Amino acid sequence: MLAPALTQPGAVVVDCTLGLGGHSEALLTQFPEARLIALDRDKEALRLSRERLAPFGERATLVHAVYDELPEVLERLGTPRVQGVLFDLGVSSMQLDEADRGFAYAQDAPLDMRMDQSTGMSAAEVLNTYPAGELVRILRAYGEEKQAKRIVSAIVREREKEPFSNSARLVELIRDSLPQAAKRTGGNPSKRTFQALRIEVNGELASVERAIPAAVEAIAVGGRVVVLSYQSLEDRIVKQVFAAGAANTAPPGLPVVPERYQPRLKLLTRGAELPTEEEVAENRRAAPARLRGVQRIREDV
Ligand SMILES: C[S@@+](CC[C@H](N)C(=O)[O-])C[C@H]1O[C@@H](n2cnc3c(N)ncnc32)[C@H](O)[C@@H]1O
Repeated sequence: MLAPALTQPGAVVVDCTLGLGGHSEALLTQFPEARLIALDRDKEALRLSRERLAPFGERATLVHAVYDELPEVLERLGTPRVQGVLFDLGVSSMQLDEADRGFAYAQDAPLDMRMDQSTGMSAAEVLNTYPAGELVRILRAYGEEKQAKRIVSAIVREREKEPFSNSARLVELIRDSLPQAAKRTGGNPSKRTFQALRIEVNGELASVERAIPAAVEAIAVGGRVVVLSYQSLEDRIVKQVFAAGAANTAPPGLPVVPERYQPRLKLLTRGAELPTEEEVAENRRAAPARLRGVQRIREDV
């Protein structure tokens, strides 16, 4: 989807979610004329990717930043307009697999969940300090957890006895507080609460809400923004920003639509593209992926 924008000499592509550098390496390999700017908020991911991408020398510039700082990063690097921007949202496999980062409910670990461990509140601090009403709101909105009230009552009762520090105690408490029927549906009963805490700790949705419009602003005419989301809340934000850019905003009844009302974006996918069965069989973490892309078709006037 990015290819048509990246074959010209001097093209710049931004990987907003570098992670372990799989996409960045593929982009640098596939498009020998392109330069890469890659961002991640996780310093460990940057360290590992720096080694992986070393063979590409100066074609790759890696930056420790949150992706909502995209305009500032591009300004600083002297490339305010780029040809491609890629987002692969959420947590990386490395973050999920490293037990001590506290993202996984399957292993007992400190309840941290910060993608950037050098700043911000941990999941344990959120659980131990947020008012009950706020926790209910987070579990409902970010985890789509129907039993939010029941779980939060148990959390508040337990944290008064002793603050939470590890994931196993939370997993056990969620299991014990749910009615039998709720335990039989929707996979591991802790999944939704862990997702909600992770989104809150990392301010994920607010970040996506700022970053997608910033990426659309940053691409030159002909440039493309491509986004992979893994849960419906993120995907909805992406869909709305893209749809707004692809809409004709003229008041009804104009005989000729002036350019300023015409769409700035063309949608590159009909709805979201889903992984194939073979891909999911090979990599089950691909299962929830939703892919959307747009192309910039005109300058602002
Ligand atoms: C799904 S992984 C990307 C994996 C990558 N495509 C690869 O090939 O290895 C998402 C990455 O985005 C980073 N990330 C998440 N939110 C971010 C944000 N707001 N700003 C910058 N990086 C972020 C995470 O730290 C994680 O490393």
